[in-house]
This record gives sequence, structure tokens and C-alpha cells, in this order.
Amino acid sequence: MVNKNTTLSNLIARAEAGGGPERIQKQHESGKLTARERLEAFLDPGSFVEIDKLRRGVGDEIPGDGVVTGHGLVEGRQVFVYAQDFTVQGGSVSAAHAAKICKVMDLATTTGSPIIGLADSGGARIQGGVESLAGYADIFLRNVLASGVVPQITCIMGPCAGGAVYSPAITDFVWMVRGNSYMFVTGPDVVKAVTHEDISKEDLGGARTHSEISGVAHFSSVDDSACLEQVRTLLSFLPANNAEDAPTLDMDDDPGRSCDGLAKMIPSDPSKPYDMKSVIRSAVDHANFFEVHEAYARNIVCGFARMAGRSVGIVANQPTHLAGCLDSAASMKAARFVRFCDCFNIPLITLVDVPGFLPGVDQERGGIIRHGAKLLYAFAEATVPKVTVVIRKAYGGAYDVMASKHIRADLNFAFPTAEIAVMGPDAAANVVHRREIAESKNPEETRRLFAKEYREKHANPFDAASLGYIDDVIQPEELRIRLVSALAMLRDKRQSNPPRKHGNIPL
Ligand code: HXC
Repeated sequence: MVNKNTTLSNLIARAEAGGGPERIQKQHESGKLTARERLEAFLDPGSFVEIDKLRRGVGDEIPGDGVVTGHGLVEGRQVFVYAQDFTVQGGSVSAAHAAKICKVMDLATTTGSPIIGLADSGGARIQGGVESLAGYADIFLRNVLASGVVPQITCIMGPCAGGAVYSPAITDFVWMVRGNSYMFVTGPDVVKAVTHEDISKEDLGGARTHSEISGVAHFSSVDDSACLEQVRTLLSFLPANNAEDAPTLDMDDDPGRSCDGLAKMIPSDPSKPYDMKSVIRSAVDHANFFEVHEAYARNIVCGFARMAGRSVGIVANQPTHLAGCLDSAASMKAARFVRFCDCFNIPLITLVDVPGFLPGVDQERGGIIRHGAKLLYAFAEATVPKVTVVIRKAYGGAYDVMASKHIRADLNFAFPTAEIAVMGPDAAANVVHRREIAESKNPEETRRLFAKEYREKHANPFDAASLGYIDDVIQPEELRIRLVSALAMLRDKRQSNPPRKHGNIPL
């Protein structure tokens, strides 16, 4: 009679050996960790509990079916994970493989825990037929239903092509490993056949392309270990689910600390740029700012930080890129970030220095009206605590959009250097004094004088403060203390939107 324990240990050994030493060696040679090594690097030591280790697809030799699934801890907090194993049939997705992923997604949702997917797969199991496609759709549905319930993160650590890209695309944050991962709906061969464009996998869908140009990836990392470490850091800022608050840490950074030197960072000449990230760092706990989408749409900065130990989401215009104008990409980037924070009870701090929306034929034809509306919609709809500080410029429609009082920011501050007006002084002079400028002997000088007059009269925070649109004009040194006290005051804020199935954000 066969000893069942021997059978069990044989099955476990087969499952843990993955695709065997040769394929594991190949995986290592290409600079990649195996699925199990990745989970070991990612989770707190010894915390991984595997589920479905012995599950097999029809006719599969190796138990596990090319994906390792289960749960474990990150800094002591529960997360669910799946890691596709490229050494087993290229990590391809069969019905059983997909069912394993769905099982941990269901457990993540019902227990209110984040789900982290490590993708490394040749796509639908070619022998699996339509069952593989059904399996993908089962995953997509769960991604959609878990959206806004638990944080979902995907790390692309190998191939991810065809319809497989749509699961990561629905998740909240996508990581890519530089040089070893790619994502595309149709690969270089199909592109060549259809459009006659010659392009490499890397240029079409590598980490650089997606983190800088398409915006599909929020982060890119130098290798697997760096990627997994960064995901752990991101998780530290997030609650486990939409019913909880993010953990509050003891940061040991004086909440009453003055932001010395901040005033000097902001040039008095409004046409001179400065790095908004320095402003952020001077205010947040220990200057620790975890930026999201760092390389994409750099005219707006989004990321997480802590104020007096509590997680906050920060959105800020960046004067060093496109003078901090809002364009389509920046609006979409920030809108998605704002909605993430709102889903997960993370208060929003908005730092404003925006000359307006970016003018241009490309922008108009590309739908800046619709895309800009997304950011307006996201800020207006958000019910988390919202604190806004106008650092310098806040002009035109962009003033309204950037978490103004009118779209339900709770507290709006401005520095004395703020300029809040319908449009920039030069543009205003051109419109209001067009005739005088045209008829003048020295149009440039006339325009300059009218612009100066407009700036002195309107480009300040005091009109807005006199109307209650700005709650207080504060000194730059006070930035941290005023933000900390505003967030403390708003800690128990409760606000809800009118009952409805869901709004219709202009997608
Ligand atoms: C079954 C697969 C597989 C797949 C790879 N393998 N992809 N087996 N189904 N989709 C197997 C290979 O046969 C090989 O097995 C092992 O995995 C490693 O693959 P290699 O080709 O040796 O690796 P590499 O050279 O690194 O190339 C990786 C690759 C290539 C670029 C991903 O394998 C590839 O092109 N695969 C097919 C991709 C594809 O067309 N997928 C279906 C797309 S359609 P052995 O035994 O030799 O080690 C799709 C639809 C999704 O995904 C729809 C969702 C809605």
C-alpha cells in the first residue's frame, strides 16, 4: 500500500521544484527570481502560507499549475499574493491557474486585505483554449469588483501581453522591472504586419515606455528585489481596505516644526521655476515623500507622505515642467490618484502653482476638455479631508480645478505670494487693453505697464480671502504646522455624496 505521507511529500517536492533546475537556471540567468523566491523576498520572513499548492490542470504534470498563491504578512499586516511561475509552462494561464488566482482574490476581498500579483507569464495557455480566456475574464471581473474595496497592486516581472494586460491595468498600482518586463496588447510582429512599424519589445512596451510615455506603469524598478521592497513601502502608506484608515506611525518629527528656508525656495519672480518637491519635503514628516508616476506627466506631482505620522496623498503642480500647466496627461494622472486616496480614506493635500491649462492644438484635439474635467470631477467627488495651499499661481479654470473651496476643499490657505485671478497678467493685458496696446507707439512697453497694473491689483490672495475662498493667508514657515492642525481638525470628517448607482466621470 502506498504511504500517503510519501505521496504528499512527493507532490510537495514536485510543486516546489517548479519547472526544474534547467528552467530555474534560465530564469536566474535572465536576472529574474523565481516565483517562490519573489514571495520570500516580498513577505515577512516565514509568513507565507500557500493555498492550492497541489492544484493541477487537466493533464498537468507539475502540481501548482504555474502559479504560487496564498497569503502572508508585510510589516505584520495580512496580504494575499499570487506569483506566476514562468518556469512552469511559461507561467501561462489555464483554467486551474486562473481559478487559483480567483480564489486568493476572493479571500482578499472578503477579509479586507490587499492583493498583490507578481506577473510573469506567456499569456493564455495555448493548449487551454477558450477555458483560458474564461479564466482571464474571471480575474478581470474580480479586479473590477475589488476596485475601491482593497488595494490591488501588480508587478510586471516578465512578459505580459495580449488581453492579459487588462488585469494589471485595472489594479491601483502597476510596477515594471526595467529590462525584464514588457506589456503590450499586440507585440512587435503583429505591429509590423499591420502598420509596418519596426519596433523592439522594449521600445513598444518596456518599463521606460510605460512609466514615462503611456503612464500604464506607476513605478519602474531596477530589479525584482528593488521592486518588491518598493511595494512593501507603498503598502505602509495604505489601509488594508476601504473601511479602515491607514496605519498611523510614530514618526518623531515635531508637528510644530517651522519650515525654515521654504520662503526662499519660492522665487519672487513668478516666471522663475522652483522644484515643488522641495516644498513638499520641507513640510512632510522627515522629508519622506513616496512619489507615484514620478516619470510620467511631470508637470504634476502625486505621492504619499506622512504628517504627524498619518498618511496623506499629495497633489502638487510642478513649475519646473511646462511651468506647472495642467495638460491631459497630468489631469488624468492626478485624477486617478485623487480617486485612489478617496477610495481608501487617505486625506488629500493639494499644493497649487498653476498658470492654467496647457494651450495647443494637440491638447484640444486630444480632449483636454474631457481629461481636465476628470480632475475637477475627482476633487469635487472626494469626501476625504481636503486641504489646499496656493503657493503661487492659481489662474483661471485651473484655480477652480485644483481643489478650490468651491469644489468642497475643507480648508484653503494661500501664501502671501499667491496670485489668484481669472488669467495671468500678460494675457489679461492683451485682452482688456488690446486696442491701447495696438495703438501705442511702444506696444511692448504698454503691455508691460498694463500687466504690471493688473498684477498689482488682482494677482494676490487678498481678493479671494476677502470673499472667504481662502480661509487664511499663511506664511511659508507655517506650512507644516498649519497642515498638521488642519488634518487633526478634520480627522473625524464625515461627508457623503447623493445616493446614486455611480457617477458618470467623463472617461
Ligand atoms: C503554453 C507556453 C506559453 C503559452 C510560453 N510557453 N508561453 N506554453 N502557452 N502561452 C512555454 C514555452 O512553450 C516554453 O516551454 C516555456 O513556456 C518557456 O517559453 P520560451 O518560449 O522558451 O521562453 P522565452 O524565449 O523567454 O519566450 C517567452 C515568450 C514566448 C515571448 C512569452 O514563450 C511566447 O511567445 N509565448 C507565446 C505567447 C503567446 O502567444 N501567448 C498567447 C497570447 S494570447 P518549454 O517546455 O519549451 O520550456 C493571450 C490571450 C489572453 O494571451 C486573452 C485574455 C483575455
